[in-house]
Amino acid sequence: MKFSNTLVSWYLQNNRDLPWRKSKNPYFIWLSEIMLQQTRVAQGLSYYLKFTRTFPTVFDLAKADESTVLKMWQGLGYYSRARNLHFSAKQIAKELNGEFPTSYTEIIKLKGIGDYTASAIASICFNESTAVVDGNVYRVLSRYFGIQTATNSTLGIKEFKALAQTLIDSSQPGTFNQAIMDFGALHCKPQNPLCESCPFSDSCVALEKKITKELPVKVKKIKVRKRYFNFLVLKTDDNKTILTERKGKGIWQGLYQFPLIECEKTIQQKEIISSEAFTDLFPDETTLSLFNSKEIVHKLSHQHLYTQFWIVETKTLKNADILWENIQDFPVPVLIANFLETFKMIK
Ligand code: ADE
Repeated sequence: MKFSNTLVSWYLQNNRDLPWRKSKNPYFIWLSEIMLQQTRVAQGLSYYLKFTRTFPTVFDLAKADESTVLKMWQGLGYYSRARNLHFSAKQIAKELNGEFPTSYTEIIKLKGIGDYTASAIASICFNESTAVVDGNVYRVLSRYFGIQTATNSTLGIKEFKALAQTLIDSSQPGTFNQAIMDFGALHCKPQNPLCESCPFSDSCVALEKKITKELPVKVKKIKVRKRYFNFLVLKTDDNKTILTERKGKGIWQGLYQFPLIECEKTIQQKEIISSEAFTDLFPDETTLSLFNSKEIVHKLSHQHLYTQFWIVETKTLKNADILWENIQDFPVPVLIANFLETFKMIK
């Protein structure tokens, strides 16, 4: 209780005077919370005023053309927010007679609303004790409690939500939620937090351990590249195939593979057959069949390889110089070794 008392009394003296705080109308709170995602209060403010003037009720928003809504959103970015807002406004107007849902469980069903927004609306408008967790909350809690769990990990998301939920003042959940967000935005700032004048300075773990600057912890997420591989597994009547060595730098350098057609997306049999790469490799008559009806997803640290193995049968081919019975002599990537295992069993 001490945490929330200290926090709320700080808020009562320092809160920001924001137009949506004068209302508990869920339509206005919804608009403001969607606008403030990935957007600073200073930037979102004029949009909020313009929006609520033009669309004073959910019916006005529902009636508008999508292009009008998007035009008004111009400059705020992340336009899917505006599209979802408009979609849900139409749903509320038509299916719910303009009545905004009144509980977290119902609110979160709306398109474009996740845990954060549902918690904010449910607590501010309907007094439901559901804790919000945004970037400010991660910062305040990680510092105050000295938590080193990465805030963008599955574990971290769960841990911080559960902690916030234990701290929330259930007699005034909306005030508590806005207080912790304002405290993070104005006092426990990312850079240069105001620790000298902090009401929590006697019990803040980060301050005591001098690790304020290191918190919150975030893991660097590596960007995974998706690649679409089509291996052409040749089988001639005289039991031969083609393997080629992978040259140059990159994955599997020096290993052997079946002829490969790499594409921008998953492709179908007719696209393979009509591709130049295929007709160059196999100018004569062939029978083509897909070996794995479900794509194999081979996961490397930076790449996910969506793979299809195509069996190409033909009488004979000049370039086919490897006997199937010798195939185990060649070093191949695991992806191909696994394929060969299964292929051998059913051959
Ligand atoms: N950021 C987004 N929504 C907020 C709110 N209701 N109070 C404080 N900061 C916020």
